[in-house]
Amino acid sequence: MFFGKKGEIDTNNIPEHIAIIMDGNGRWAKKRGLSRSMGHREGSRTLKKIVEACYQLGVKYLTVYAFSTENWSRPKEEVNELMKLLLDYLRNAERELAGKKVRIKVIGEKKKLPAEIIKEIERVEKNTENIEGLDFIIALNYGGRQEIVEAVSKLVDDFGAGVLTEINEDTISERLYTKNIPDPDLLIRTSGEMRISNFLIWQLSYSEFYFCDVLWPDFSETHLKDAIKSYQGRQRRFGGVKC
Ligand code: FPP
Repeated sequence: MFFGKKGEIDTNNIPEHIAIIMDGNGRWAKKRGLSRSMGHREGSRTLKKIVEACYQLGVKYLTVYAFSTENWSRPKEEVNELMKLLLDYLRNAERELAGKKVRIKVIGEKKKLPAEIIKEIERVEKNTENIEGLDFIIALNYGGRQEIVEAVSKLVDDFGAGVLTEINEDTISERLYTKNIPDPDLLIRTSGEMRISNFLIWQLSYSEFYFCDVLWPDFSETHLKDAIKSYQGRQRRFGGVKC
C-alpha cells in the first residue's frame, strides 16, 4: 500500500463516498453547561469545516445524517433549533460554498418538513443541480426503513403497471432516495456510539465502519484524515476471499 509521507493519507485512495453520523452535540453542550441547541449550533459550524475538508480532499459524495424520522420526539425547542439551523444552512449555502463545486441534495421524507424548508431545499437543489465536484447529501427527516418502505411501494406500483418485470437489487436501489448515488465506502460515527441508527441501512451493506470517541462539535479535519487512513488500511472483500 502506498502512503505519502509517514502517517499521511494516500491521495490516490480517497473514499469516493463518505457518510457521517454526526453524534454528540448534546453531550458536548452538557459538558460545558450549555443548552443542547448550542451543541447543535457548534455542530453546524463543524459540518461546514468538514464539507470544505472533503471538497479539498477530492471526496465525491458526502452524506450526513442531519435529522432522523425519530428526531421529532425530541423537545420542541430542540427540534425548532435544528430546523432553524437547517433553514439557515440552506439559505446561505451558495454564499458559503462560493467558488467551490458543490451540488446539494436532500434525502428523506421531505413533504413532512416545514414549508419554508421545503421551499429552500427546492431552490438550492435546483441552483446547484448542474455542478459537478462534491455531491453534498443531507439526510433530513430520513429513516432507512421508511426509505425502503417507499421504495417497495413504488416497486409494487410499477410492477402492477407493467413498467417493471423483475425485482432485484438494482430495481430496489433505483427506487431509493439515493438513486444514482454510489453506496458509501466509509461510514463515520462520532461520540463513541457504535450503531447505525436507521441510517442508510440498505446502502451500508459493504461499507467500512469507523467509530471514534470525539464528540461531533470537536471533530476536525485531522479526525477526518484519521478515519480515511484507517479506511485505507483495510482490505475490502465484498464477501469474496483475500487475494
Ligand atoms: C446528534 O447529536 C445530532 C443530531 C441529531 C443533529 C445533527 C445536526 C447538526 C450537526 C447541525 C445541523 C445540520 C445541518 C445540515 C446544518 P445528539 O443531539 O444526539 O447528541 P447526544 O447524543 O450527545 O445527545
